[in-house]
Amino acid sequence: MSDKLLDYDAICQAAAFIKQKITITPSVGVVLGSGLGVIAEEVEDAIIIPYADIPHFCVSGAPSHKGQLCIGMLSGVPVVLMQGRIHIYEGYSPQQVTFPIRVMKELGVETLIITNAAGGINKSYQVADLVLIEDHFNLVGMAGLDPTRGPHMPQIGARFTPLNKAYDPEYINTAEQIAKTHQIKIHRGVYAFVVGPCFETPAEIRFLSMIGADAVGMSTVPEVMVARNAGMKVLTISAITNMAIHDVNSTNITTEEEVWESVVEIVPKL
Ligand code: 6GU
Repeated sequence: MSDKLLDYDAICQAAAFIKQKITITPSVGVVLGSGLGVIAEEVEDAIIIPYADIPHFCVSGAPSHKGQLCIGMLSGVPVVLMQGRIHIYEGYSPQQVTFPIRVMKELGVETLIITNAAGGINKSYQVADLVLIEDHFNLVGMAGLDPTRGPHMPQIGARFTPLNKAYDPEYINTAEQIAKTHQIKIHRGVYAFVVGPCFETPAEIRFLSMIGADAVGMSTVPEVMVARNAGMKVLTISAITNMAIHDVNSTNITTEEEVWESVVEIVPKL
């Protein structure tokens, strides 16, 4: 991929490549996080396109990430699903990580649903709970890692992006109602984005807890920022795969295995 911060030609080339393989115009985009890619099996008349085939797309080496687009119909809605995403912790820039979101916009996507696996900071949460994200902390973003940084291109988005209603309140209400109907426990919470790939120290978890974070993870926030910058509506659901460790004397250790194990329980709820 180009090392330009934002490359409109590259976005258009990727979108043109995808458009020539599909007959529908997807209106909803879905990013499926770690281990959640199986949800794509619900898509009818699916066209699968590996990221490696799409011009300028970066390929993920992250575990449980398939690395492909799945385009088709889900509950009668034309959708584009990302089975797996790339992360800044893999060495990519915030602009590279959010390139597929720019491409989705170019394909016609107006609504973005983002899922992720997150650590639970809020002590009332339990493993395998779902959280509707209503706000976020982007500590690294405030320090400069903003995916909308770069020369302003009016054809792809605004210069300055408001983020106070980044997580659509109506979508949150609707999702909450749907969860209630199906007797699925769901929280509302604040997500703290960290780059990773190291997990946090107990001191860092206590810090995040103190400032008001309910969950912590290594994705999503750059995608939300770019989606808002491009004028899309956003719904984000975190799956709590493990509880973050607050106490330096705790005998628990956060591992990747712990994160994957709980995904089995989470998928049907999502
Ligand atoms: Cl505890 N921290 C971070 N940064 N990401 C996670 C996590 C914790 N658990 C799942 N993903």
